[in-house]
Amino acid sequence: MGAGVLRTGLAVDRAGVPSASRQSRSGITASFQRSRSPSPYGFGRLDAFGILTNEVVGTALGMPENVRVPNAPVSYPFLWNTPQLEWVQWNGTVHIPLLRNIGEVLGVFAQLTLTGAPADRFKSSADVHNLFLLEMQLESLEPPRWPEHILGAVDRERAARGKALFESEAAGCSACHSAAPPYPLTSDNEYGRRFIPITMVPFTALGTDSQAILDFSIRTANTGPLTEVAGTDVALTGPLSKVVFQEVMKRQFAELGLSELEQLEHSGFRDDREQARVLSYKAGPLAGIWATAPYLHNGSVPNLYELLLPTEQRSKMFHVGSREFDPAHVGLDTSQGEHTSLLDTSVRGNSNAGHTFGSALSDDQRWDLVEYLKTL
Ligand code: HEC
Repeated sequence: MGAGVLRTGLAVDRAGVPSASRQSRSGITASFQRSRSPSPYGFGRLDAFGILTNEVVGTALGMPENVRVPNAPVSYPFLWNTPQLEWVQWNGTVHIPLLRNIGEVLGVFAQLTLTGAPADRFKSSADVHNLFLLEMQLESLEPPRWPEHILGAVDRERAARGKALFESEAAGCSACHSAAPPYPLTSDNEYGRRFIPITMVPFTALGTDSQAILDFSIRTANTGPLTEVAGTDVALTGPLSKVVFQEVMKRQFAELGLSELEQLEHSGFRDDREQARVLSYKAGPLAGIWATAPYLHNGSVPNLYELLLPTEQRSKMFHVGSREFDPAHVGLDTSQGEHTSLLDTSVRGNSNAGHTFGSALSDDQRWDLVEYLKTL
């Protein structure tokens, strides 16, 4: 713990720790204040891109006029399988996991230098090697299995009917989602690596909330000290942030003296690519999905059964934060408790519309599908 604090570069000796920790705490408090949102996130959600972008183009660039209100909270995605995915982030914007991890720490507490002497540019306290080690560790994370001894036995016949439906044209689920291993894989990339393919679906076809996609796709910032690097004085913040993460990564690779092979290993044997498909959300594999409510990128649907209902029959408001599970509908217990927060789907960024692939099914078919999803 002590060593972790020291490694951030905030302090160099034990005596300096209290002041370093005060400095770090006030930095985090200031970041929360900069990125305060009028729409409450509640439990399990954060406008990670909004906050991160504010830290990069507002704080690190020293340009407060670039700060925007983060108004598109998204669910924390589950972590199993992520190192193997072809694309990560809800909008499929990142191919190299290390770049996502760098972005994450820059968004929450890492320090980053973008101003001042060019030789200092892209210096950061993000510990790229440790981020790589964390990603390696994730590779062995398995999705949880439905615990029948706690949550009740799976109805095998129903689940078998659900599987057939999942793979049928009537429901069409398998056209976009792989279910569980063995996953189909992409063909070899130039380093002989294969990934679990991700289907990207334009939000206009899907109909789920558009705020996260739009914020990412159309937000711009003055580039100030990065004008030369960006090649323009006003840039889209998505690509601009990515340039910053790439430069942070390259700088640390050089500082660590990594060989070309080690650099490739840290990058997951992937070359950087632009983006899977613009204005789209990702349909990932569904192993362990039973344990990850609430659903959709913005956590606007409390359980799997409701996700298969037409939008108007889904809960318009529900409480998040209970530690109880609803094994019947497979998702959150949405009753109000001492520490719960209310999720109101009429608030901007919280729409529970879209992804209506279960709407035309009979109720019996929906329960078949829910039973099958428990087994993934
Ligand atoms: C046309 C492609 C497509 C089809 C068909 C499809 N989905 Fe999806 N699914 C998606 C996309 C894209 C998302 C992410 C949408 C979002 O978060 O806004 C998603 C999200 C989900 C989620 C929530 C994932 C999470 O982490 O919250 C579940 C569960 C799911 N789909 C199950 C199904 C089932 C069951 C079917 C069949 C009835 C189905 N899907 C049909 C594309 C599809």
